[in-house]
Amino acid sequence: MSESTIFGWHDQFLLGHAEMDETHKEFVELVNALLTVSDAELNSALAAFSAHAERHFAQENEWMEKNDFPPRDCHIDEHNKVLASVHDVQEQLAQGDVAIVRELAKALMDWFPSHADYLDSALATWLVKRTHAGAPLVLRRNPVKA
Ligand SMILES: [Fe+2]
Ligand SMILES: [Fe+2]
Repeated sequence: MSESTIFGWHDQFLLGHAEMDETHKEFVELVNALLTVSDAELNSALAAFSAHAERHFAQENEWMEKNDFPPRDCHIDEHNKVLASVHDVQEQLAQGDVAIVRELAKALMDWFPSHADYLDSALATWLVKRTHAGAPLVLRRNPVKA
């Protein structure tokens, strides 16, 4: 695995639901790997990301279904679109197209912050309210100024 970081974790991504936050940290690490590993490692990096995405989205979909989360249809739809793209790209990588994996990774890097901000954060708030009768408490470190 490469040690360089193109897509790194920010505490701004924290949503106050511990399990979801852990999953999102893993998502960021695995997308970063897709951007930074060598071409020879890309196949296993994409397999690892794909397995993560299946688990990540299935878990959120299950939370939405079990907790009657109202706007779940468009959220589940977004997950399905991402999974469909990942599966397409896996097929194209099998044909030798390395560049398309890097493009997918860049698209995921652009997609994640707004997905987390609008859809996952609404779900996190809903889940925390249902279990603790309150809004999630998020403790973010102050961003380090360069
Ligand atoms: Fe998520
Ligand atoms: Fe989501």
